[in-house]
Amino acid sequence: MTDATHPLEAPENLEALKKEAALRAVALVQSGQRVGLGTGSTAKYAIEELGRKIAAGELSGVVGVSTSEASEALARAVGISTEPLDPRPLDIAIDGADEIAPNLDLVKGLGGALVREKVTEAQARRLIIIADHTKLVTRLGEKAPLPIEILQFGFLSTVERLREFLPGGRLRMNGARNYVTDNGNFIFDAQLPEGFDARELERRIKGTLGVVDTGLFLGMAERAFVAAPGGVQELVR
Ligand code: 5RP
Repeated sequence: MTDATHPLEAPENLEALKKEAALRAVALVQSGQRVGLGTGSTAKYAIEELGRKIAAGELSGVVGVSTSEASEALARAVGISTEPLDPRPLDIAIDGADEIAPNLDLVKGLGGALVREKVTEAQARRLIIIADHTKLVTRLGEKAPLPIEILQFGFLSTVERLREFLPGGRLRMNGARNYVTDNGNFIFDAQLPEGFDARELERRIKGTLGVVDTGLFLGMAERAFVAAPGGVQELVR
């Protein structure tokens, strides 16, 4: 085979896997719960399934709390009542991830919603991650860059400060312009060095002037449903 993509990892098959994982997570949602709605192509299937269950009368009194403008629009389109985040805990949150380490530490934010996701999901009693098997890694940084949201104000200075200890990486672009998050900030996609201590790195990045937050989600996920061609694997922290 000359093509590097295995047939079972063709995009159309990955979509079916993402949906399978999403359905497993939505099966955990109960009537009356406040649910954190993640962002991305996998979370989309969870939002659609939640909407389907509400419309079919399988769930009632569910309220969604969205982690992005895109998820908010989708939730409304599929008939989920939504509320903005307030200090009450969420019963459950369901979201995708870009990398899932064996201990369920995560890299998130390739979809650009890392800060709202982290702020929302930190309040969830249960954070359930849904993904296809390509997101599993043995160490964070293996496949994906680490998104770091930074203020637009003084962004070149912030990037210089970050590059002192994260030399690889680039500002995320949207065509010819800088990518802008829902919060009006920019994203620096950093290359993670090998053998780093995730908690120490998180502390150092967050201590850098101009940084809003990082896509490292450490110790937050309760479990992950990871779909592969052979079935859905349930990983518990
Ligand atoms: C968005 C995220 C997404 O959850 C992550 O990028 C995974 O997205 P997808 O399911 O499309 O692969 O963190 O900020």
